[in-house]
Amino acid sequence: MFKILRREDFSPEIHLFEIDAPAVARKAQAGQFVVLRIDERGERFPLTIADWDREKGTITVVFMEVGKSTRKLATLKAGDYIANFAGPLGLPTHIENYGTVACVAGGFAVATIVPIARAMKQAGNRVISILGARTRQLIFWEERLQQWSDELIVTTDDGSYGRKALVTEPLKELMEKGGIDMVVAIGPTIMMKFAAKTTEPFGVKTIASLNPIMVDGTGMCGCCRVEAGGETKFTCVHGPDFDAHQVDWDLLMARQRTYIDQEKESLRLWQEQVEAGGKVGG
Ligand code: FES
Repeated sequence: MFKILRREDFSPEIHLFEIDAPAVARKAQAGQFVVLRIDERGERFPLTIADWDREKGTITVVFMEVGKSTRKLATLKAGDYIANFAGPLGLPTHIENYGTVACVAGGFAVATIVPIARAMKQAGNRVISILGARTRQLIFWEERLQQWSDELIVTTDDGSYGRKALVTEPLKELMEKGGIDMVVAIGPTIMMKFAAKTTEPFGVKTIASLNPIMVDGTGMCGCCRVEAGGETKFTCVHGPDFDAHQVDWDLLMARQRTYIDQEKESLRLWQEQVEAGGKVGG
C-alpha cells in the first residue's frame, strides 16, 4: 500500500498527489512513468512521474480526470492509500547537451515537461519552453517551468492568458528563426502530431512522449503497441519517448479510441453507483 502524503488541486479536474514510494523515488528519472491500481478491483493505468524527492522517498504525479479510473483516483485525499504502484517504468528521456532545446507542453503535460526541461538545463542546454492550455484556469507550474527555461512562451487557445495561439504557432516561429537543435513536445496526441508536422520540414529532431492505452507497463500485454519508423514498438518498454517524425499518429489515435464506448459505459455505471450509495469502489 502506498500512502498519499499531499494533495494539491490545480483546477477542479487537475490534481497533484505526492506519494510515499521510496523505491520508486530512488530510481526515477525524467520521462519515466508509474502504473498504478487504486484498489484490488481497479484497472491498471499509467501516470507520468512529475517529480521525485530521493531523500524524502516520495514521488509526485499530476493527473487530469478523464475517465472512471482518474475520477476514482481524484476521490482520494492525503492519508489515503493506493493499492499497487509499479515503477519507475519506461526508458528515461535521453538527455545530453544538444545546444538549444525547445520544450513544448500542452495542457497538464507541463508536469511531464518540467523534469525534462530541468534535466536539459542541468546538462548545459539553452532551454526555450512553450506552455499552452485551452484556457487560463488550466495553466499551472508556469513558475516551475520558468525556473528551468531561458525563455518561456505561454499560450492559451482562448487568449485568456499569454498569447492567443496554439503551441504550434510560436514553435513554427522558432523553427523559422533557426538555432533550435532539438524539440521535446508532450501533450495531447493531436498536439504532438501537429508539433511533429511543424518541425519536420525544418529537419529538427523532435521527441514526443506517447500515451497509448497500457495495462501491464512491462512489455507483456502488447496493448501499448505503436508504429514508429515502420516498426511495431511497445511504448512501455521502447518508449514512452519516440522520434515524433517516425510515429504513425493516425494509427495511435485510432487505437486510443478502441475502447471508448466501454470506457464511457464503465464511467456511467460507476457514477450511478456513487450517486446511489456514495461508494467509490469497483
Ligand atoms: S502496456 Fe503491456 S506491453 Fe506495454
